[in-house]
Amino acid sequence: MMIACLPGDGIGPEIMAEALRVLAALDLGIETAIADVGGAAYKAHGHPLPPETLELARTSDAVLFGAVGDPECDNLERHLRPEQAILGLRSALGLFANLRPATMFKGLEDMSALKPEVASAIDLLIVRELNGDVYFGEKAQRVLEDGRRQGYDFMSYAEDEVRRIAHVAFRAAQGRKGKLCSVDKANVLETSQLWRDVVIEVAAEYPDVELSHMYVDNAAMQLVRNPGQFDVVVTGNLFGDILSDQASMCVGSIGLLASAALGERQTASGTFGLYEPIHGSAPDIAGQDKANPMAMILSLAMLLRHSLGLEEAAVRVEKAVSQALADGITGADLGGSAGTTEVGDAVLARL
Ligand code: NAI
Ligand code: MG
Repeated sequence: MMIACLPGDGIGPEIMAEALRVLAALDLGIETAIADVGGAAYKAHGHPLPPETLELARTSDAVLFGAVGDPECDNLERHLRPEQAILGLRSALGLFANLRPATMFKGLEDMSALKPEVASAIDLLIVRELNGDVYFGEKAQRVLEDGRRQGYDFMSYAEDEVRRIAHVAFRAAQGRKGKLCSVDKANVLETSQLWRDVVIEVAAEYPDVELSHMYVDNAAMQLVRNPGQFDVVVTGNLFGDILSDQASMCVGSIGLLASAALGERQTASGTFGLYEPIHGSAPDIAGQDKANPMAMILSLAMLLRHSLGLEEAAVRVEKAVSQALADGITGADLGGSAGTTEVGDAVLARL
């Protein structure tokens, strides 16, 4: 088995180094290959996603991605900006399902923006569709006949796009608490009405999963009022983008949240995917041994679970991280003083 490791720029290389130490300590005999991406790739090869990097990702069993967003590249044309690398990888690799778990860790309840007793119940997974919706529809700005400027973005979902993400969500619910909440805006949007109809059709294949529906505005409210009510949430690209950022902040630090982007391709032992922390390249703290590597390490755990079928190793990594947090090992993002490598050491010691 081979993992393509793409550290990126900013804090990406620092946090990737810690994840790779964890992988080495697990001694699973997995090969790794490292390639440039983002600002680092632009500086070395003149493009944020060089063909060699894409080819390596394509031929691997899974991709572990750090972060990109070097501010020195901010003035480049849009297609040369570091962030184009992640968008390019997602579309070239057909990654349409974004899994973003948010779980409250013991000992961090006071770090949440919510009341500790509300936050302690958070244990949810947002399944966000990643390849469709208003982000990919026809979009433009134009000048109307009367001279007013107008912008528009076309929102649409085809039934097969909804069906495949619904299957991912129902299967995820089967592996968790058996509850799935589909979030839409079916009271106003035709796209959402189709979404809801298709999710209900797919539900017939999963009688063991309890399905509910919620309008997105109410879901935003419920996530703050009582996040403990959610197990798996499935939603479209736009709503999922917003709700998953919101859910993540209820947990305490962006430095704790991992994600998976999965496609349809099956590998020998799971589903091919790309795994990354949800945060960016944090240029404000890059190179200062301040970045929390836990989101990156937890992304590795997701990779072991979903792409390599190594559930036991994934659980070991997750337990080591939560044990380190319970023992009070935290960096500046969580009010502590541990540096990046120190947090990595603490996780390694508990593996
Ligand atoms: P960011 O997530 O990089 O940083 C936001 C804040 O959180 C900063 O104060 C940062 O220091 C802190 N932070 C982030 N990760 C942390 C960690 N592991 N440990 C401790 N503190 C952490 O978001 P920002 O500043 O909006 O974006 C910076 C660059 O990253 C931009 O160029 C943006 O486009 C890019 N970006 C890339 C993403 C990716 O690679 N998938 C995702 C989000 C943003
Ligand atoms: Mg977002």
